[in-house]
Amino acid sequence: MCMYVCIYKLAINMKTLYTGIGHSNSSSNSSNKMALGKSIKMYLTIFIATTCIYMVLYQYHMSRQPLASNDVVKHQDKTSSSYIASYWWAPMSLLSAVNNNSNSNSNNIMNSTINKTTETTLEQIQKDNGRSIIMQTVSLDSRQSTSATAAAATTIATTTTAALAKAAAVVTTTTTKTLATTATATQSQIKLRNGQTYRPTNKAGHNPMGQSTIPSTTTTTTTISSSRTTRTTRPKFLAISDPPPLYIITPTYRRPEQLAELTRLGYTLKHVVNLLWLVIEDANKTNPLVAHTLDRIGVPYEYLVAPMPEEYKATKRAKPRGVSNRNRGLDYLRANASEGVLYFADDDNTYDISIFEQMRYIQKVGMWPVGLVTKTGVSSPIIRNGKLDGYYDGWIGGRKYPVDMAGFAVSVKFLHERPHAKMPFKPGYEEDGFLRSLGPLANAEIELLADQCRDILTWHTQTKKNPPASPVNFTRYGQTNLEFIEKLLVRP
Ligand code: UGA
Ligand code: MN
Repeated sequence: MCMYVCIYKLAINMKTLYTGIGHSNSSSNSSNKMALGKSIKMYLTIFIATTCIYMVLYQYHMSRQPLASNDVVKHQDKTSSSYIASYWWAPMSLLSAVNNNSNSNSNNIMNSTINKTTETTLEQIQKDNGRSIIMQTVSLDSRQSTSATAAAATTIATTTTAALAKAAAVVTTTTTKTLATTATATQSQIKLRNGQTYRPTNKAGHNPMGQSTIPSTTTTTTTISSSRTTRTTRPKFLAISDPPPLYIITPTYRRPEQLAELTRLGYTLKHVVNLLWLVIEDANKTNPLVAHTLDRIGVPYEYLVAPMPEEYKATKRAKPRGVSNRNRGLDYLRANASEGVLYFADDDNTYDISIFEQMRYIQKVGMWPVGLVTKTGVSSPIIRNGKLDGYYDGWIGGRKYPVDMAGFAVSVKFLHERPHAKMPFKPGYEEDGFLRSLGPLANAEIELLADQCRDILTWHTQTKKNPPASPVNFTRYGQTNLEFIEKLLVRP
């Protein structure tokens, strides 16, 4: 419309000009020429100005047209030339794209059908400390994929603004997202930094049979970045450096404190690279709440179950706590690990992360002091003249190795050399029995960590036992958030 008005104006102007020229009596050629020159200048100026105004208005008009939401999603990781060109040509559209992209995405989100399943390929680079790389293909239900789109929308908006500031509008975004913990892993592969991989075969909390082998994997992912390269998936990632892997075997069992203990320990382990956390529950089946907690923490893990045999459960005397769990962990390592170090980390103890870095390099067995919350204060190897010369502990009980579970670690290679090594179901003698079963082992072969056992880096702590929470009164608190929270409570 505007264009026609302009052309019309121009035509009238030109007509006036030519009419003027035709009717002028040639009294003064030079003044005519000057007048003609002036007129041409004026009309040219008007023409250019009109064209510019037209272009700006036209581009503004175009930029008001909403982009197809498909385009927005597709282009978030594509450097399409037309896409770039449109931004070069239309500065106004850059401005409005910021609004339109997010608007049309959110519209898209609103309209997405719940039953639709989207295949998304995810990869995780846990940037903190260069943790192990996790790659997996995950099926997300639409709610999850929607949140991915939402994340993408935000990113586009941000990146676009940045691009605008730079006036070079190359807008490419590679988008992954924070995976909701309920995502169902269809295929996954965890690659440790030493190049070893392990493939969980199933998802914790999704095994209706409650078999004793229910591996799963962690998935907490946020990688929203802008990049010039075009890609939706990355090739297999080879780690750059490879400290020996750590296998942390943690027995756990159902009780009110369970999720709190696992959360605390998990976030300690999150500071440690190249670590696989074997969480093994004394139960017949996995607990989705535990799986949920582990997912959220984001440390690479396997969640297995290994119930205490009935004969020990039934006894009125002391029970061998965590033994079937730990033996299950040993079986797992015999089947899946070839190097690195294993450590039994009870879920209620306290660990300084520097002990993990020290234990990685153990050749056979390493030991160190454990702080106790008892009168004895500590359980420790005794070092005299630089050599292991007995043990300090509140209770020796005829043990060859009177040490605490938190005070030693064993190399996986050494475990392979002792195929029969295992923990006995003998309360009080679990550590001793296991270490004996690793024999022959000379004292000189036991490495003394934590500054030659002059430091305390692990503590045998205990959380007060608590009665189970009473049920929430839903007559009073129905239709409130408590309906959700109630489902998160672990009761025996
Ligand atoms: C101490 C030792 O540190 C344990 O390694 C040892 O198994 C235990 O004594 C024992 O001799 O019975 P303590 O703190 O007294 O540990 O025991 P807990 O912390 O209650 O249990 C040790 C581990 O086993 C924990 O990780 C716990 O979650 C797990 N556990 C406990 C089970 O798997 N099932 C149970 O019924 C109880
Ligand atoms: Mn304990």
